Amino acid sequence: SAASDVYKRQMLVNMRDLLADARVGGYAVGSFSVANMEMVLGVLQAAEELRAPVILQIAEVRLRQSPLELIGPLMVAAARQASVPVAVHFDHGKTEQKIGQALELGFTSVMFDGSHLPLDENIAETCRIIEMARPYGAAVEAEIGCVGGSEDGSEEIAMHCTDPADAVRFEQETGVDALAIAIGNAHGNYKATPKLRFDILAQVAENTHTPLVLHGGTGISPEDFRRCAQTGIQKINIATATFDSVEQTVRGAYDAGAIGGYYDLQGAEVQGAYKNAHRHILIFGTDGKA
Ligand code: 13P
Repeated sequence: SAASDVYKRQMLVNMRDLLADARVGGYAVGSFSVANMEMVLGVLQAAEELRAPVILQIAEVRLRQSPLELIGPLMVAAARQASVPVAVHFDHGKTEQKIGQALELGFTSVMFDGSHLPLDENIAETCRIIEMARPYGAAVEAEIGCVGGSEDGSEEIAMHCTDPADAVRFEQETGVDALAIAIGNAHGNYKATPKLRFDILAQVAENTHTPLVLHGGTGISPEDFRRCAQTGIQKINIATATFDSVEQTVRGAYDAGAIGGYYDLQGAEVQGAYKNAHRHILIFGTDGKA
């Protein structure tokens, strides 16, 4: 029923509120990509232990491996029963069909990635998604400029930093809830140490009020993460580091002879996701903020 839907939704936290608190507190909230139940459990174990708000996310390109109709309800159920605020986010939405499905499943925010479009079209499409999300009370994230690489490593997208004037116009014309910007960051493992353009970040932050998002968190140094959080980034996306940590933890457990059967393997996966989330939550300064 509509009433029970409202009740269920009230138990979930909206990304809009998490990021507003982060802006006031001068910290960033980690948005961790998950592909299965073990990763959800590992991230939430770290968040609960550190009393940190977190965001669970999955990107549209990953749905081939983790179907939305299966992993979506799992993410929403895990968020609802967590003892800390957990938002559920649809990352890099490309199609209205999948964004609509995420909203129906109860995701509390969706990203529409129109960064490859001319600015006018990106604005028009983002406004359409904001209208779609409104009846659900869900927040919307958009992106301007081009973050390098691609979410699943299948494309080499050239990096192109956000123009601060575009950010001002985008905010005024869309009223979007969160804005991903490109400041020299890229998805996947960096081939060389990234040199983030803190001057661009500062200019965007000074001239806008929208919470800002840093994609491509894997491989950025703790110092740069802290500086981002202090300069106006309120959400940091981490994907590759989680998958690598899970894989390496499993490999290490095999090498140490610690895997005697399936459930040891499953435990190692949870542990890998836990370690990675724990490390990032401490760097982002989100511990104790729940
Ligand atoms: P990484 O894979 O570089 O951590 O990027 C994550 C991301 O931005 C997902 O949207």
